[in-house]
Amino acid sequence: MNRESAKEKARELLSRMTTEEKVAQMIQVTYTDGGREEALKWAKLGAGSFLHVLGDDARELQREAMKTRLGIPVIFGIDAIHGHGLNNKATIFPSQLTCACSWDPEVARKMGEVTAREVATDGLHWTFSPVLCIGRDTRWGRVNETFGEDPYLIGEMGAAIIEGYQGDDLADDAHILACAKHYLGYGEATGGRDAYDTEVTERKVRELFLPPFKKAVDAGCATIMTAYGFLDGTPLTANRRILHDVLRDELKFDGFVITDWDNTQSLVWLQHIAADISEASIMAASAGNDMIMTTKGFYEGMLAALKEGKVDISVVDEAVLHILTIKYEMELFDKPEKRGEPDCFGKPEHLEASLDAARKSVTLLRNNGMLPLCGNVKKVAVIGENADNVRAQYGDWTYFTHPVPDPTNSRPAIRPYVTLWEGVKDICEKNGIEAVYAKGCAVKPLEGVNEDADLAEAVRVASDADVVIYAVGDVIPQFGEYSDRADLDLSGRQNELFARLKETGKKICTVLIASKPLCMGDTAEKADAVVCGFNGGMFAGQALAEVLFGKINPRGRLPISFPRHSGQIPVYYNQMPGWHGGKYNDLPQAPLFAFGEGMGYSAFAYENLCLDEDLMLRVTVKNTGARDGVETVQIYQNDCVSSVLTPVRRLIAFKQVELSAGESKDVEIRLSKDDFSLINAKCEKVLEPGEFILYAGHSSKEEDLISITIKL
Ligand code: NOJ
Repeated sequence: MNRESAKEKARELLSRMTTEEKVAQMIQVTYTDGGREEALKWAKLGAGSFLHVLGDDARELQREAMKTRLGIPVIFGIDAIHGHGLNNKATIFPSQLTCACSWDPEVARKMGEVTAREVATDGLHWTFSPVLCIGRDTRWGRVNETFGEDPYLIGEMGAAIIEGYQGDDLADDAHILACAKHYLGYGEATGGRDAYDTEVTERKVRELFLPPFKKAVDAGCATIMTAYGFLDGTPLTANRRILHDVLRDELKFDGFVITDWDNTQSLVWLQHIAADISEASIMAASAGNDMIMTTKGFYEGMLAALKEGKVDISVVDEAVLHILTIKYEMELFDKPEKRGEPDCFGKPEHLEASLDAARKSVTLLRNNGMLPLCGNVKKVAVIGENADNVRAQYGDWTYFTHPVPDPTNSRPAIRPYVTLWEGVKDICEKNGIEAVYAKGCAVKPLEGVNEDADLAEAVRVASDADVVIYAVGDVIPQFGEYSDRADLDLSGRQNELFARLKETGKKICTVLIASKPLCMGDTAEKADAVVCGFNGGMFAGQALAEVLFGKINPRGRLPISFPRHSGQIPVYYNQMPGWHGGKYNDLPQAPLFAFGEGMGYSAFAYENLCLDEDLMLRVTVKNTGARDGVETVQIYQNDCVSSVLTPVRRLIAFKQVELSAGESKDVEIRLSKDDFSLINAKCEKVLEPGEFILYAGHSSKEEDLISITIKL
């Protein structure tokens, strides 16, 4: 059903609803908060939605909802963040950050499509994804959930995954609702500290945080989640200017808005801008939140406020209209449960998509010729806990980190998955190479455990091999919500073990299996090769092993910069100029690895950059290597003289080109005036005429770019 007809139906239904029924529609109840009996009670009351409930438990609630006076179906939301990961039968994809290493929106789109099918087959309708936050402070625990540090790349990946989740028609049985979050500025957590202390200004919002949401709205995203933080002193949850004026009037968003977790109650007990739940309920609803996540007290609070005449029923009507419209558009009244393909969890095509995403995301960061491993290698040592730790490989938002009660969900990881050790062993077995594994040390050692013998064993195993593959990283619970780190150095004895492995004189390839960039020090700088795998999902180990042995040519590029030291943060590439001294006096200025960086077994050269009057950019790219490869052509600009400060460089476009060995191609990219505009001091988007430097090349680093000066 199209949106307009759905709205008509919603209006008609609204006219028949009691005040209690309306307020109940605005409530989203957390299943894990109170369990089945409590959830059934809310279903009977007519709650609009539930979250964190799977399969048959959800179906039971839906049956209850359909028995209510008006038979309004419930909508079920779930954090299917990189696959329907809270269900252990589902296909687990690389994390968003890992997926962004592919710089390939098609990878995101496919991940969205597959996830949608598996969520729908579980009786659910809606995922709280994608995260469009900007990950600029890597101490923040949720950097893994972002598409990295750049608004342009985030917007492209975000729009694609939304299209993948939703398809062309919200009523389609194989698709689900997307939810772009967290609106706005949540990633700008002060000091990397998760949640409430994220103050941003409106100009910054418009320059950095809003553009990905605009792309999400343009892609048809049906729902938006409000952030925890505040803007100019007003919590986003209570910010009508941002939730209504900007979102609905300017961006033309026409779906519904949901608060984040208990954000309404938080106005009272954390942010202290409301005296009680009734006042907080008025604030949240009046600001433009249509659905209230987790705060069940909203029901009583809002009913009391209405009774006392403190708020007009039109506030509730508007919210309920938004919710019911989407329910009608999904045709939920006719088919409260999606009728997608039954039990399609982990079917071969889905697993293939996860493997493809993992392959395209592996990012080779250094290589002194060690890789790919070839003929003369007879024995490989694989060292490190994360080389054989499926939990670390999966990362956040799977059943390991967020268990949802489900009698059939027995929690152990279900095959197939392939760890790095298993991937290497498999290739070795097929090629007559010996492979040996030693854990070495724990990533996060338990207090009082003496690991001396484990380290010694790892060194012995390494000494006896031709080459060493050393996996380092982080483990649950070193990341995620409520889990920020002040110190991003490799934890435990990981650096010490590297130093000892190095003493063996063997070539070492360091592989990072982690939620986000970590400060790797010598473990990266003195390694012969460095490969970044982040949280690559089910088949991360296979993809990594294929890269190590040259079965595939790595094509990943970093969506985020790597600091050398936690004290160097932030190191994002699009910084403002003018730092006195330009660097800390005890650290180099440059990050360890920069945004856009990534190598392969090919090399690429750029020449003949030009831009014609119609803003068509052309550049010649040549594969100067001996192997076919894929290059991600990155386009940046800098505004030479502008009325407000602009960053040293800003990504405005990218395009992937396949080039066989020795091949040259003229790449064309259509730019627009928007790519050169800025947000001026009055918060208006304008193009200020004048000179711009246009860059094209392999990464955000000066030495990887060619440039021309243009006049607009
Ligand atoms: C809080 C998180 O901030 C949000 O991203 C998530 O979707 C909700 N909890 C629901 O789990």
